[in-house]
Amino acid sequence: MKSLRDSAVVVTGAGGGIGAALARRFAAEGASVAVNDLDAAAAEAVAEETGGIAVPGDAATVASRAREALGGTVDIFCANAGAGTEGGPDAPDALWDATWDLNVMAHVRAARELLPGWLERGQGRFVSTVSAAGLLTMVGSAPYSVTKHAALAFAEWLSVTYRHRGVDVHAICPEGVRTDMLTTTGTAGDIVLRPGAIDPEAVADALFAAFDEGRFLVLPHPTTQSLYAARAGDTDTWLSGMNRLQQKVERAEARVRGGAQTEAEPATGQAARPAAEPEVAEGERA
Ligand SMILES: NC(=O)c1ccc[n+]([C@@H]2O[C@H](COP(=O)([O-])OP(=O)(O)OC[C@H]3O[C@@H](n4cnc5c(N)ncnc54)[C@H](O)[C@@H]3O)[C@@H](O)[C@H]2O)c1
Repeated sequence: MKSLRDSAVVVTGAGGGIGAALARRFAAEGASVAVNDLDAAAAEAVAEETGGIAVPGDAATVASRAREALGGTVDIFCANAGAGTEGGPDAPDALWDATWDLNVMAHVRAARELLPGWLERGQGRFVSTVSAAGLLTMVGSAPYSVTKHAALAFAEWLSVTYRHRGVDVHAICPEGVRTDMLTTTGTAGDIVLRPGAIDPEAVADALFAAFDEGRFLVLPHPTTQSLYAARAGDTDTWLSGMNRLQQKVERAEARVRGGAQTEAEPATGQAARPAAEPEVAEGERA
């Protein structure tokens, strides 16, 4: 991959977590970084630390403002900001709409804004922070799982359509990552995500390795690829394993509601992962 020095990079949701780690890594490589976040103070702080430019506001509509802030050109756009929420069909429409807008339409709007310039120059890079939930699923959260699948589908479509015209696309699909978001994933997160959680810097490392190797899928956890293959290869076995995981979460939640000793689900969730649990049963991810 060509040097990032002097590249103009946008990272949404970069005031903390994975986005901040990406912004730091791009800045360390010599790129100019537009640091977007809904939290203006957080965006300012990371921009100051990285020598970047803060572009506060909603990631869902930030692409043109970020391009302007960078002097008219964006080389790499990282659609990183994302939202997760618990619930199934019972979640209100407003919540489904908000999740769809940030996890999917933000990516669509950014691509709409930037593709004409990239196609004219024959060069551009779109990085989508999806999730392993986009390859597998997230127990307890239908809006998150569905919109992350859609984000992955959109990134795949971009790659299929434009790779011969100089547009590179990458989809980052981590399982648990130690960020503020991880603290909001409840019992399911405790059981499934925390035990194997990695630091946000490891996600940035995995992205840069994928840049070097020209790889679309960025899988910072070693387990994700085989779970994804298991889902495709024997979907019903995979679904049964996932359902056992769902039942385990339900039992843990019932114990908490009942005020019982939660010895199987301590804060780390470590003990809640029996060795006998089939691998596919662990195949849901944030
Ligand atoms: N943490 C995990 O375990 C995990 C795993 C897989 C994928 N992801 C994905 O990684 C991405 C980043 O998540 P994170 O864990 O770093 O979260 P985080 O909560 O630590 O940080 C997210 C940042 O995004 C900002 N933000 C939220 N909504 C925004 C909006 N509409 N516009 C601009 N900024 C906004 C927040 O203020 C915050 O600074 C998300 O897309 C998430 O779905 C996270």
